[in-house]
Amino acid sequence: MTQDVRTLAVTVEGGKLSVRTYGDPSKPTVLLVHGYPDTQAVWDGVVSELVDDFHVVTYDTRGIGASKGPLFKHGYTLELLADDLYAVADVVAPDRPVHLVGHDWGSIQAWEAVTRADSAERFLSYTSISGPCLDHAALWTRAGMRKPTPKAAARSLKQALASWYIVVFHLPVGPRVAWRLGLAKQWPRIIRAIEGTRLDPSPTLHRDGSRGVLYYRANMLPKMRHPEERPTTVPVQVLTPTGDRFVTPALAAQAPAPWTERLYVRKVHGGHWIVVKKPALIAERIREFVQSSIATPGGPEPVRSLLRAEAKQGTKDRPEFEDKLVVITGAGSGIGRATALAFAEKGADIVVADIDAVAAARTVELVELLGARGYPYTVDVSSGEAMEAFANDVKATAGVPDIVVNNAGIGMSGSFLATEVKDWEKILGVNVWGVIHGARCFGEMMRERGEGGHIVNLASAAAYTPSRTLSAYSTSKAAVLMLSECLRAEFARYGIGVSAICPGFIATNITRTTKFVGQSAEQQERTRQRITGLYRRRNFGPDKVAERIVDAVRRDKPVVPVALEAKAGKAISRLSPALARRMAKIDPTG
Ligand code: NAI
Repeated sequence: MTQDVRTLAVTVEGGKLSVRTYGDPSKPTVLLVHGYPDTQAVWDGVVSELVDDFHVVTYDTRGIGASKGPLFKHGYTLELLADDLYAVADVVAPDRPVHLVGHDWGSIQAWEAVTRADSAERFLSYTSISGPCLDHAALWTRAGMRKPTPKAAARSLKQALASWYIVVFHLPVGPRVAWRLGLAKQWPRIIRAIEGTRLDPSPTLHRDGSRGVLYYRANMLPKMRHPEERPTTVPVQVLTPTGDRFVTPALAAQAPAPWTERLYVRKVHGGHWIVVKKPALIAERIREFVQSSIATPGGPEPVRSLLRAEAKQGTKDRPEFEDKLVVITGAGSGIGRATALAFAEKGADIVVADIDAVAAARTVELVELLGARGYPYTVDVSSGEAMEAFANDVKATAGVPDIVVNNAGIGMSGSFLATEVKDWEKILGVNVWGVIHGARCFGEMMRERGEGGHIVNLASAAAYTPSRTLSAYSTSKAAVLMLSECLRAEFARYGIGVSAICPGFIATNITRTTKFVGQSAEQQERTRQRITGLYRRRNFGPDKVAERIVDAVRRDKPVVPVALEAKAGKAISRLSPALARRMAKIDPTG
């Protein structure tokens, strides 16, 4: 990193600020403000990611790191801290506005700056990470208390509990002494334990931790007691890290809504110190926002997730999945098509993939009749190359999906000894490899994007119900079920849920396309007709499975047996495996 690093000292009222600038000053300026108890070094990773495209500026806030500041709390009011921020911006970019980014206390200070009357002349955009405007926060809490619904009370309580340390910081001596006596030494270990990330402590941490307590003491109580209405016209992007122990997403997302004209709230997966943990992700979100036409007149159209973030603001009654992109394989028929329609009805855009192009096109027509957008794709899920090309095309055309339903599957029935190698290859190719390819290609994209998501895999009750006539199909579905459980455990850390669906006997085309191994063409036709008749009489439609799939996503359910027989099979497999083994010997096709 750090080609063209310059250090400056900016004199301000009651202090002197140590400022670093990186990169080409003729490029747009991005000014990064650090939080507590960090120094500007907390941005090092983000700076490396941004420096090729921007003139990046960091500084130690007053009294912290290499910056000088007063000894008493009245020298740390937000008004002075915002004055400092303006002073730095004036020095590094005297004749043009800058893009502002704040983390933690840096975000609190930056809010103070962008909510000043003249802020639009100084700032083109503001990205806030884990630090609310204190006035907005106080007004949001009061509004919650005026209309005390259980939900609002729960939200406020959660935030109050997350703010325990603020109370501690107001105790007369303890916290400041603690920093000097040993807390600073323990700090990296504490951060590793609670955040799972390495944080290199600055050599001034013992002093910064203690001095930073004055930031809290100078501002928290006055702002909570006498909050002001602080609107801004500067476009604001709020990044809400999942697992943030100090600022709840509800506060970060809701408090600024009444006071911002253009607000974009975007979830990022990581903890409070996400700027250290995932600098590339944070830099990407900053870049997307700063370079888009929202923040840079004449810039490119905002990326899809920014547009969605804007669409969500102030809208309570919008369809539940309006801002989502759902990919469904095998969506040309049966459960896949019904799922496409269920999500479309709830406002999602749907990528309809099927090996049958005509069937996919028809589903897209139906999706569009519901007012959603549909993208038809012809793809064979058993081909790794085809799936990779498909996934890349989806990303380029429609964006990274939020939900992927690995549904494409085929049936196969008959004895194990009559099942030839090519039959095994076929069914494992579609039913198992199809799911593996879908989860790999899209799972990787979702992880990279860092906003979580959901993967649904169509398993079957056959996954846990042995049968002498379903060795190939059951084996393939047992693999899907186990893969789903393993993925769920692995992907949880990325905020990606995984559900396995076990439908039961569902009246779809599958009975007409199932291969009955060991039977002649005529025998197969007769068996198909008989089984299709049985399924039809069972009268359980794919729309009911689709409803349960939507619910599995909504509630992040691990395994969903749908019809009664799927639930009963699950109960029997648990309570009496011996009974399950006896039932396995029955031939329902015979
Ligand atoms: P369906 O036959 O009505 O629909 C399956 C769709 O997948 C078809 O449109 C087909 O063209 C497509 N497809 C087949 N092979 C493909 C491939 N290689 N690449 C891309 N698309 C392909 O079947 P249904 O019933 O809707 O099945 C959907 C899923 O639900 C399957 O995984 C199936 O195993 C599972 N399932 C179905 C049950 C049922 O009773 N219908 C019960 C348990 C599970």
